This record gives sequence, C-alpha cells and structure tokens, in this order.
Amino acid sequence: MSDVSVLAIVSEIYPLIKTGGLADVAGALPAALAGEGIEVATLVPGYPAVMAQIEYAETAIDAKPLYGAPARVLRGTAAGLDLFVLDAPHLYDRPGNPYLQADGRDFPDNPFRFAALCQTGRELGFGAAPGFLPDIVHAHDWQAGLAAAYLHYDGRERPGTVATIHNLAFQGKYPAELLGALGLPPQAFSLEGVEYYGTIGFLKAALALSDRITTVSPTYAAEIRTPEHGMGLDGLLRTRAEYVTGILNGIDDEVWDPSSDPLITEPYDVETLARRPANKAALQDKFGLDPDPGALLLGVVSRLSWQKGLDLLLANLDLLERLGVQLAVLGSGEPELVRQLLEAAEARPGRVGAVIGYDEAIAHRIQAGADAIVIPSRFEPCGLTQLCALRYGALPIVARVGGLADTIIDANEMALASGIGTGLQFSPPTADMLGATLERAARLWAEPEIWDELVENGMMTDVSWRRPAALYAKLFRDLVRER
Ligand code: ADP
Ligand code: GLC
Repeated sequence: MSDVSVLAIVSEIYPLIKTGGLADVAGALPAALAGEGIEVATLVPGYPAVMAQIEYAETAIDAKPLYGAPARVLRGTAAGLDLFVLDAPHLYDRPGNPYLQADGRDFPDNPFRFAALCQTGRELGFGAAPGFLPDIVHAHDWQAGLAAAYLHYDGRERPGTVATIHNLAFQGKYPAELLGALGLPPQAFSLEGVEYYGTIGFLKAALALSDRITTVSPTYAAEIRTPEHGMGLDGLLRTRAEYVTGILNGIDDEVWDPSSDPLITEPYDVETLARRPANKAALQDKFGLDPDPGALLLGVVSRLSWQKGLDLLLANLDLLERLGVQLAVLGSGEPELVRQLLEAAEARPGRVGAVIGYDEAIAHRIQAGADAIVIPSRFEPCGLTQLCALRYGALPIVARVGGLADTIIDANEMALASGIGTGLQFSPPTADMLGATLERAARLWAEPEIWDELVENGMMTDVSWRRPAALYAKLFRDLVRER
C-alpha cells in the first residue's frame, strides 16, 4: 500500500520521448519508488510520440482555453507509466526535438509551452483530476520550474514541492514583460520569487520556492554552491543549503542488462565474460575499425556539447594512434563537433569510427563491445553512461567531476592493492590530463589480469535504482510528515 502520492512533472520521459538522461530518470524512478510504497503519476506534454503511445486514456480535466486554444488533460498509461498528458496540439503537436525547431533554435513560444505544463501541474496539485490528490509535486529541471511558483502564489493550502536539478546549464530565462502573460502576480517578480537578474527565471523560481531541492549526485550538490559551478545560482543555493541534497541516479537494470539485452550481438554476464569479445568484433565491423581483438577499443555515447568535453578527446587523436588504440563514437549535437568527428574518422580509417545521430541500439552495442568508455565532461550532474559501462564491463575513463566523481573508483595504487578499482578518473578536465590517463589505460590494458579484475568489480557494482529510490522515498516522507 502506498502512503505517499506524488505528481511528477517532466518534459521528457523514456521510452516515449528522450533527448538525454532526464528522460531515463523520469521513466525509471516511478517503478523504483513503487517498490518503496510511493505512488507516482507523471504529467508530460502531449507531444506526437506521447499521444501515439498512450493507452486507456480518459479525460481527467475537460478542455479549456490555454494560451490561445483549448487544451485538456488525459490520464492513461504507456509503457507501464501512469501518466497525465496535457493534450494541447497548438503547443506540442510538432515533430522532432521537444525543445528545438528544425533550424536548431528554441521554439519561440517555449516559455508558454512549459508554463502551460506547470499551470496544469498546479491544477492537478490542488486535486482537479477525480480521485487524485498528490501529497507532493516533484518538478524536474527548468521546464517544470514554474510549478512551485504557481502553487506558492495561489494561496490555497498546497502540496509539498520538490525541485530536482538535472542540469544547471539550462535555466529557462525569459523577459520580465511576460510576467502577466505567464499568469504570475506582480509580487512574484521579487528576489524571493521568480525574478532572476531582471528576467523571469523558471529554474530560479523552483530553487527559491520549492520546499526541497535535490540534484543528481552529492558532488554536484556541493559543486553548484560554488561560483565556479553555480552558473549564477550558487548564491541562492548557498542561502538554501539546508534544503539541498544530492541523490545519485540509478539506471534501469532491465533495460541495461547484458545477460538479456536483445540489442547486442552476444549476451553475457560477469560469469561468461568470454562471450563478450563477439560484441567487440561486431562493433569494430559496424564502425569500420580494424578487426583486431588485441587493440584497446574506446567507446563514446554522448550528446555533442561543450559540457561533455569531447574536444579534449579529439585533441588526443595522435596519442591514440601512437598507442594503437581504437575509437568508436556515437553522438549528436553541435555541428562543429560533428564536423571534427567525421573528419577524424575519414582521416584515420580503421582506427576512428563515428556515427552521428541518436540511436538506442548502437548505444547498447558500444557499451557491450567497447573495452572502455570515455567521458571527459567539464561538468556532469550525474551521468548515466558510466553506470551503463560498469554494468556492461566497459571500463569507465571519466573526468573527476559531479556524479562521475561519485560513481567510479579510480584504479590508483591503493585501489589496485585493495582490489576495489572500477575505472579511471582524471582531474582537472584538460586534454593533457586526459592524455596522461589514456596512457595509464593503455598500460593497464597490457596487464589483462588487472584489467579483468577492474571490469569484474564494475560489473558487480550496484548501479540500480534501489538505493536512490529509498533516499527519495525518505525525503518525500520526511517532507509530508513535516507539513
Ligand atoms: P545527458 O543527460 O547530459 O545527455 P546522461 O549520461 O545522464 O547525459 O544521459 C545520456 C543518456 O542518453 C544515456 O541513456 C545515453 O545512453 C543516451 N545517449 C546519449 N547520446 C546518445 C546517442 N547519440 N544515441 C543514443 N543514446 C544516447
Ligand atoms: C542531465 C545531466 C546528466 C544527468 C541527467 C539525468 O542531463 O547532464 O549528468 O545524468 O541529467 O539526471
């Protein structure tokens, strides 16, 4: 029996619509919390992919005008998720990326698209849907940020509010003139409210007005309180420090299970690692790499953005060549990085391969086939690909920042002596430090017994949602009790 009911609000959710780890978390946390006796229904925008997949949908809130045209709220299920869907075709019935138009720029009406989601969150928070009255509204990232403001300024007795930061780099800043149009009262435009350096800050509002703030790793929770990583919000986060916690993400260990993964060539587990090389051979083939079982094969699965630091890896291509190391990259994002990756693959046939695009199957094949996964992020709130890598027996080589610092145990001398290493870390995130660490990886690769021990340690690490879900459950229960 569940004793706490949560309305989650999020702008993407796996497996319906995904641009990054936010969707993975939103898709996996409800089932994990159900195991803790917490019931979660999730409010999402009615994008085409969501409308196409929702089943057993009933009208939960009748149509009424919302930013220029009628919108209604459906309740239904999809992929085992209990969903409220804001069916507003004028806001969401657009193909492709949920945030960007075809030319790569933000949709100009994004403030209204996500304010509408948050206003619907307020209605549901006050019990507008029959049979559903949440104890807590859990808002993810800036797109859900205004929910805390709408609930706060409404004046009625409200549910508890929790804001989760997945990435401080995306803040949702819009002109102050929109205040009235966004349905916010004049007094909301204050230091304690939505005002943010003279603009309206969606994420800022959530951080100022939510009862609790979480982010996705303990180290990132500490980093964001510093000017270096706070991206303008560190002062506010310091003021609210007693309400800020870091809870690590997990991964869905059914979606990511090398022993039963239908997307990989040859399933395996820690007992049957001898089967893994078939996946490496298939990956080399797919990426046009030399079919050399002895070459250390590095994999990358990433958004291509400054955050992810792939320029640091590109700066080390000559070194990789000298070390006889291969590289397979799957990514999509910034055109300049795309160009450089394709150029590298062209210039180094058999050694570097790149697939540009978003492709779930290839992501799984890289995790199963690469010997190591490189994640040279400049900042990383949590990171999920290193968790997948641990589970799939690919050695994570990561920058020591955010969640990467919290999830990987560097194979330094003491860790090797105690047999507890699971990967390699480097700091600070510079091309030279990455280069030195790639050399360290190549030396370890030459010692298969040590390498295999690191891989096995990784595969036996618990990367599931069990522990994180228990921490969220405690936070929710404590908040309900306190209110
Ligand atoms: P972020 O959310 O910052 O992009 P995470 O590591 O938290 O980083 O999550 C990224 C998620 O997106 C992982 O599930 C990863 O496998 C997936 N992913 C990233 N890029 C691609 C891609 N090009 N194709 C398929 N999956 C990808
Ligand atoms: C963000 C972060 C990433 C995190 C993900 C899920 O996209 O960049 O580090 O893992 O959200 O919380």
